[in-house]
Amino acid sequence: MPDAENPSRHQDLLLHGDPEPVGLLADPHPEDAAHPGSGPVPLALLPDGAAVGERGQLLVAGVDVADLVAVVGTPVFVYDEEHLRRRCREAVAAWGSGVAYASKAFLCQAMARLAYEEGMMIDVSTEGELHVAVSAGVPPTRLVVHGNNKSEAELSRAVQLGVGRIVVDSFDEIARLERLASAAKARPQVMVRVTPGIEAHTHEYVMTGQDDSKFGFGLASGAAKQAVARLARPGSPVELVGLHAHIGSQIFSVESFAKATAVVAHFMGELMESADAVGSIREICMGGGLGVAYVDGEESLSIAEWAKVVREAASAAGVPGNVALTAEPGRAIVASGALTAYTVGTVKEIPGVRTYVSVDGGMSDNPRPVLYGSGYEAFLARCVRSPRPRKVTVVGKHCESGDVIVRDAQIPEDLAVGDVLVTPVTGAYGHSMASNYNKVPRPPVVFVRDGVARVVVRRETAEDLLALEDPDAPALTAEALSSQERR
Ligand SMILES: Cc1ncc(COP(=O)(O)O)c(C=O)c1O
Repeated sequence: MPDAENPSRHQDLLLHGDPEPVGLLADPHPEDAAHPGSGPVPLALLPDGAAVGERGQLLVAGVDVADLVAVVGTPVFVYDEEHLRRRCREAVAAWGSGVAYASKAFLCQAMARLAYEEGMMIDVSTEGELHVAVSAGVPPTRLVVHGNNKSEAELSRAVQLGVGRIVVDSFDEIARLERLASAAKARPQVMVRVTPGIEAHTHEYVMTGQDDSKFGFGLASGAAKQAVARLARPGSPVELVGLHAHIGSQIFSVESFAKATAVVAHFMGELMESADAVGSIREICMGGGLGVAYVDGEESLSIAEWAKVVREAASAAGVPGNVALTAEPGRAIVASGALTAYTVGTVKEIPGVRTYVSVDGGMSDNPRPVLYGSGYEAFLARCVRSPRPRKVTVVGKHCESGDVIVRDAQIPEDLAVGDVLVTPVTGAYGHSMASNYNKVPRPPVVFVRDGVARVVVRRETAEDLLALEDPDAPALTAEALSSQERR
């Protein structure tokens, strides 16, 4: 129900000078029923500010994507800034000011600043993410620090900065953190990450809440209880403020969220009965994971609906009203706010087998299809509402047969070399997981708003690819090597 989440979408489409009403999935092509997916791309998958221009071309926030591409080239990530802001505001309205944006989904300084401006905290899971967020001007108190293997340096920086929350993940980390906090004479606020033993219905690589997980403290094993007891003991150098659970990503099942909440709530109940620790637990964060629609026919919950499910489950399980329920969505904030524009370079037809359409990016800017077998839609920027009767496989330019962007893509009949091909819903885990495989420079990120485009991350250059290299590097001296401390 993405439109229920965003009732003003249709209105927006008409705002951008669209001469005729834009039909939402309503193109009168009778053949669509016979060939699902062969109609025009569902506009509900596009950013809120997407519209169809006078010539049928794609506009995002009033910016003509073909014009943009003529200036910045392809591939390019185009983010609708107002769409992102709206989702952040929705998250704050649904969850309160403790809700954090999971920056692993997509992070650059512009995004960190945007999420902060709209009232969200920022969840960072490495020192690198922390650095970007702080550099963007996010106050450390608005940061939540995650990670299953936080280094001494990462924990130390978090403690020195005085971040809002550190979500502790292991006994080794607790020992490290206690030592650092004592030395710094700081008392960081921490949450305990528990694994509730819930198998979310999602890809196994993005499932995190099951007992057999590298993340967090198991409930079933008693580890979570032990961690709470240790962190809440009198004289503890850290302040335990809450419990945290994250069961995975791209989850559509309401039951999984409800079950996980009930399990965490039950654990809290146990703590209430047995330990004085519970007095300090004033927050439960149920992580992120809300699924989003990527392809025709998929429907997702809105952020508000998700929050409602968790709230009801918590209340039914007896979580006291004064305990704040929070979350840390990533994908649901950014995924559908962006699209990727590529240029078609070659079209190879293998009669009776398939047609390969090669574009100028691939697994280096969107590894999700390769990693998780994820599906996407594809369409042409010059004819958003065209039917897409032709089935092809859209592939990238990398030296891998697996470098597929859309395995069974429906595209307009007249697709040709030089066309700008667009894949929607690429705002999450695309740019953030991008690589330089085959020494392909990473694409730029463009924010568009009110008819204005800003390149907030420039395209990498060939020079950037050499920036870390030193082929004539001097040898490390024996002295330098022997002066390193050994453990
Ligand atoms: C601890 C934690 N919180 C939040 C998220 C964000 O998840 P999503 O982008 O699916 O909302 C993740 C990502 O897997 C995560 O590991």
